[in-house]
Amino acid sequence: MVGARVGVDLVDVGDFRARFEDREDVLRGVFTEAELDYCRSRPKSWPRLAARLAAKEAALKALGSGLAGAMTWRDIEITRDAVGAPGLAFHGATAQALGREGLTAGAVSLSHTESHAIAVVLLVPS
Ligand SMILES: CC(C)(COP(=O)(O)OP(=O)(O)OC[C@H]1O[C@@H](n2cnc3c(N)ncnc32)[C@H](O)[C@@H]1OP(=O)(O)O)[C@@H](O)C(=O)NCCC(=O)NCCS
Repeated sequence: MVGARVGVDLVDVGDFRARFEDREDVLRGVFTEAELDYCRSRPKSWPRLAARLAAKEAALKALGSGLAGAMTWRDIEITRDAVGAPGLAFHGATAQALGREGLTAGAVSLSHTESHAIAVVLLVPS
């Protein structure tokens, strides 16, 4: 039986913004509509988006394979519950890869400042 797996990632908000600003096509390739809508509806949109990128990277670290085969960034979605706590939803080839590893979404936690965003992801045995 597999054990729980954890991943962490830290994103420099300035670097991220410089890479993604004015690149709507790239942003839409990485983030889901719901992720973009939420972050853009709030102040500090760039740190919020950076935290979600960190969460996607952290999930890939926990999975251990990186973005392999048909997996896409949008396969890893950061959701929100009624009180604003983040959650994870996996789709497509990434959900399949998770299943093959015997894992399922455990938990995600985000934190961001103007300069940095960090995320920790826990995957647990399914
Ligand atoms: C929710 C809370 C923990 C967020 O902490 P913060 O330091 O303000 O901000 P951070 O950047 O570290 O974290 C923000 C992220 O926390 C997450 N978050 C929000 N509500 C949450 C909750 N109920 N449970 C878990 N995570 C939550 C979100 O992912 C949020 O980012 P997002 O809006 O981009 O999705 C904080 O606002 C809070 O309510 N604290 C309760 C204690 C308190 O009132 N302290 C005041 C100072 S003593």
